[in-house]
Amino acid sequence: MFLATPDPAYAGAFGRLVDDYRRAGEPTRVAKYAAGEGAFRAYVESLRLAERGIDLPADKVPYHTYWLVDGGEIVGVVRVRPRLTPRAEIYDGHVGYDVPPSHRNKGYGSALLRLALVEARRLGLARVIVTCAAGNAASRRVIERCGGRLLGEVTDDDSGERLNRYELNTPDPDPGRPSPAG
Ligand SMILES: CC(C)(COP(=O)(O)OP(=O)(O)OC[C@H]1O[C@@H](n2cnc3c(N)ncnc32)[C@H](O)[C@@H]1OP(=O)(O)O)[C@@H](O)C(=O)NCCC(=O)NCCS
Repeated sequence: MFLATPDPAYAGAFGRLVDDYRRAGEPTRVAKYAAGEGAFRAYVESLRLAERGIDLPADKVPYHTYWLVDGGEIVGVVRVRPRLTPRAEIYDGHVGYDVPPSHRNKGYGSALLRLALVEARRLGLARVIVTCAAGNAASRRVIERCGGRLLGEVTDDDSGERLNRYELNTPDPDPGRPSPAG
């Protein structure tokens, strides 16, 4: 199992991921990933550009996408946003992730977040904010297992959704060096 950066070689696996969401009846995520069902190479390129903030909607900050790969399948997707707007700092956080329905409850979500913390550190963050719906017990479990400390609860004024906000430290690869401000 490893975290991969988007690559055209994963076209087949990505198609199976979208099918998984479709079969499970999760239209929001089908819509989120549908662009990858067509011109996959262009989709991968758009993810690479998103890292540099190119061609993003005005309300989106640059983000890095990683795919958790196991046995040739994409068993999780995680996005790391190194710089947040004041609003995103409260409601979105630095890390967002999902595991396709047929792969849930096998530990992939926890592995995904743990490995994303390593990437966040590489991107210069000593700590990250992660938010999740207060009613999302599986995500709360994943965050707490990865060392999340509950900062409090906020209500998203756009959606009305109650969110838990957590803070997590990223792992220090070299404890002898000064740490980034994060
Ligand atoms: C949240 C999500 C990523 C978790 O992925 P996962 O691969 O199932 O995670 P894990 O297997 O590592 O851990 C899930 C934990 O939640 C627990 N869990 C699952 N459903 C649960 C529920 N309804 N109530 C309580 N606990 C639950 C599992 O038992 C497991 O805990 P355990 O290992 O102690 O038994 C996945 O459910 C998902 O993609 N959901 C939709 C998208 C989403 O919510 N993303 C997060 C946004 S913040």
